[in-house]
Amino acid sequence: MTPPTLRFLGGKGGVGKTTLAAAVGLLESRRGLRTLVVSTDPAHSLGDVLSCDLGDEPRQLPGGLWAAELSGEIQARRRVEQVAHDAADAVPREVMPAVRQHLQRAADSPGTVESALLDRLTELIEQVPRHWDRLVVDSAPTGHMLRLLQLPDLLRPWIEGLARQRERARGADRMVAGMLGRSDDEPDPLLQRLHQRRDRMQRLAHRLRSDAAVHLVLLPERLAWAETVRAADALAAAGLRLGAPVVNRVVPPDESGLLAQRREQQDAVLAQVRHRFAADAVVEVPLLGGELVGATELGELVALLDRAGW
Ligand SMILES: Nc1ncnc2c1ncn2[C@@H]1O[C@H](COP(=O)(O)OP(=O)(O)OP(=O)(O)O)[C@@H](O)[C@H]1O
Ligand SMILES: [Mg+2]
Repeated sequence: MTPPTLRFLGGKGGVGKTTLAAAVGLLESRRGLRTLVVSTDPAHSLGDVLSCDLGDEPRQLPGGLWAAELSGEIQARRRVEQVAHDAADAVPREVMPAVRQHLQRAADSPGTVESALLDRLTELIEQVPRHWDRLVVDSAPTGHMLRLLQLPDLLRPWIEGLARQRERARGADRMVAGMLGRSDDEPDPLLQRLHQRRDRMQRLAHRLRSDAAVHLVLLPERLAWAETVRAADALAAAGLRLGAPVVNRVVPPDESGLLAQRREQQDAVLAQVRHRFAADAVVEVPLLGGELVGATELGELVALLDRAGW
């Protein structure tokens, strides 16, 4: 199977998604692949883990890896400007202040921010493979990630509904214009934009199914496993490809006392993970000492992923 060009690191809060996304990014970039790692978690910590300031625009770190923390808010504001610009041609000037106010409120709503974040991610996905060989996504915890990945499919019927409404309104305008003896065959920028957006979401949904893999990260604990199974089922039902799962912070086998007991419990979960996924595909990451911050400190993890055949 060809390696996916788009990788999403997902899982519960605090399991190591950001740390692993950074390490995977560093590994791919050290292999000479043009790699961009982006965070879509509104509570960004990718910059902290990579030890640099990141923003919405990708920036290159010493060593070659590119990184960014995407902002749904910034993108939502850009989109409001765009829609206001389109609306200015379509509605009377005196209602524009009200339209702007309405758009501003809409821009701040959670749904808009979420779909704007998806738009920004889509822009970057569309740059693969022209600008990037690999895109690694540090996702928000499971529920958010699932929603983001399902959003292209959820948005499509909604956009189509809007386009139909707009077409009906245009039809009525044309009829009135016809009765008045005028023709109204001007192209409609709003309708065009809706169609473009629908097609874009369709292409994105296709690429997420064909070029992407979602790697679920989990700690070897029973509750975490139960949630991982649910997430894996939901991703598979959505037609998304599951990449190698990562079991993180595994206690080494040669411990004694409390840690040995812990290891026994972990072994039971590890056996289930290997049973559900192909055993050789499961990546085990030991509990590491030291602070995993900065490219040098992440080196051990990068080497480990390399050896695991990532
Ligand atoms: N293998 C490991 N050994 C030791 N510590 C680890 C390991 N993996 C991650 N950590 C530490 O666990 C903490 C959580 O990791 P990280 O921030 O990557 O998780 P996350 O899943 O991105 O969390 P969030 O859901 O809050 O974004 C960090 O302090 C990180 O350094
Ligand atoms: Mg994180």
